Amino acid sequence: MFYFGVDYYPEHWPEARWELDARMMQDAGINVVRLAEFAWALLEPEDGVFDFAWLDRAMGVLAHAQIQVVLGTPSATPPPWLWQKLPDSVLVDETGTAREYGSRREYSPTHSGYRAHAVRVARALAEHYHAHPQVIGWQIDNEFGDRCYAPGTRLAFQHWLKARYGSLAALNECWGTRFWSQIYNDWAQIPVPVKRLHAQHNPSLHLDYYRFISEVYVEFQQLQVDVLREICPPRQFISHNFMGFSYPNINYFDLAKALDLVTWDNYPRGFWVTTATIDPAPLALGHTTMRGLKQQNFWVMEQQSGQGAWDTLPPVPRPGEIALWAYQGIAHGADGIIFFRWRTARFGTEQYWHGVLDHDGQGRRRYAEVKQMGQDIARIGALIAQSVVRADTAILLSYDSRFAFQIQRNNPDFSYDRLLTAYFSALHQSNIPTDIIAPDHDLNRYRLVIVPALYITESDTVARLTAFVEQGGTLIITARSGVKDHTNIVVEKVLPGLLAPLCGVEVQEYDSPLAGEKCVLKSVADDFAGRGAAAAWCDILKPTTARVLAEYAQAFYAGQPAITLNRVGQGQVIYVGTVGDQALVDSLVDYAIGLAGIQHGLTTPQGVEATTRWQGDEPFLFVLNHTDEVQSVVINADYYDLISDSRQSQSITLEPKQVMILTLV
Ligand code: GLA
Repeated sequence: MFYFGVDYYPEHWPEARWELDARMMQDAGINVVRLAEFAWALLEPEDGVFDFAWLDRAMGVLAHAQIQVVLGTPSATPPPWLWQKLPDSVLVDETGTAREYGSRREYSPTHSGYRAHAVRVARALAEHYHAHPQVIGWQIDNEFGDRCYAPGTRLAFQHWLKARYGSLAALNECWGTRFWSQIYNDWAQIPVPVKRLHAQHNPSLHLDYYRFISEVYVEFQQLQVDVLREICPPRQFISHNFMGFSYPNINYFDLAKALDLVTWDNYPRGFWVTTATIDPAPLALGHTTMRGLKQQNFWVMEQQSGQGAWDTLPPVPRPGEIALWAYQGIAHGADGIIFFRWRTARFGTEQYWHGVLDHDGQGRRRYAEVKQMGQDIARIGALIAQSVVRADTAILLSYDSRFAFQIQRNNPDFSYDRLLTAYFSALHQSNIPTDIIAPDHDLNRYRLVIVPALYITESDTVARLTAFVEQGGTLIITARSGVKDHTNIVVEKVLPGLLAPLCGVEVQEYDSPLAGEKCVLKSVADDFAGRGAAAAWCDILKPTTARVLAEYAQAFYAGQPAITLNRVGQGQVIYVGTVGDQALVDSLVDYAIGLAGIQHGLTTPQGVEATTRWQGDEPFLFVLNHTDEVQSVVINADYYDLISDSRQSQSITLEPKQVMILTLV
């Protein structure tokens, strides 16, 4: 079954309206809604007094329209009585400022009283709804997030460190606390890294704190997972709504572990977007990362269906975009699409966060688009559901390295997220399916693995990468890999540290160019047609066993190696001693694809995306035109387009924002 739904807030509207809502949903092919994730004050109006009657009635109305339900646990929005009862349960931000009640996500995730209340309301919901036939799953909390520096969190951090290091002597040694006289002789002395210092915190303390906070959310989630698992049957899945690739504060691989289903919230034209054209690659990266967290299909729990704004409104989604973005999610492995939200709220902070219906309850252009998609999905959804994306290329995402770069950026133009996105975009432009994987993920099934800036490098990762290459894999590793050990201390080795033997190079010296500065490169190998330029970092390399592909053509290191290739066993490693611009990354990916013997995907114009899901041996080829122009793509075979229900031969023509799902005839 394919799940096609909306996020619905019946509590925002008079009950007299619910029936019409349910009917309009049914007409639009909606078969599931998410409910109640912000309804704590209505579910528990007073401390320990629960009221599910209104939700029962709303679900009853939806049941008549055959609409199933995902229930949210409401811990992201505690009611005022709880703040009054637990005034010290607020989150303290990195400036040391305590948040104020009045919005959401204001709670401290370590506060034991708050935790107990969150678990109690989740338990009450589970007890009331576990046997309810309409409830197919649960969402815990909503978009877990912000780092907390409250006194209770500091105490919890000290306990966490004690469990991890065992003794202060070990901690002092690992963190190098003899620097600037920070030798701790009492756990209670250890601070959390609030931004109230003359200079920066000890990077080792800082990284441990980021790891700790990530684990705090995993633990907070686990408390609710445990309650739901104890009470609810396995047919009800447990999920959380993640924030895609771009949310950098929680190790999402860890957060996904205890869940049955990863879901995420996708807003391509949120108020923060300043470009008229939406680049499909970062959106695809969001979906791909979510698929990668458990290496399984996912849902989009909130898919933009109108203007997304709090105060200043961005452009409204263009005709076709709502369905296009939803189909893009499906193309990358979504088995459920839930639009945020059913009807635009008249009140509250998000009164300009538009939904499928307008403030006045009318369904207009956006409703018609969702309805058309709903009708198509009713026809074709079951064919596609549970089919899979197959990739033999992977990009390694290291949250440890990502956290460490948040602490020390290395260069004003360097961004770990941008570097990873650049490699993903290069593959995406060639329509090559890619997985996003954790550093401990099995590499056997891949032919090409890309490792952007593995700043924190563990020896077991190196062993796995080495075995992968020896057995014939192709690896790209970039500058700023192998620099630090687990404790965020610089290795006592020639760089790239533990990776130097595998890469067959030694970094003699490095330069950190000024912001905006580029360094011209010159290809020196017949087989490598490098384009673009070095930027943001320049390692000056001495090959040991590698051969040189490109050298710098500028600066005092003109003529020195910048990019190398090392053969190891049956495979090879490309070491890229720079970050570089997109043109350079594109040419490196082209080169690596050739070495790895990976087939290019369908050739498509810029802005037209093609990707395949497989139902056994049967391919579903999704072709998505993200541009404002009519586009043609040569498909070189006879296909059937499931959406337009028409035969397509040899070449297809797509209207702006049009999507085709092609099956072989
Ligand atoms: C997030 C939240 C939703 C809503 C939307 C729009 O994704 O999960 O509750 O706030 O953003 O802002």
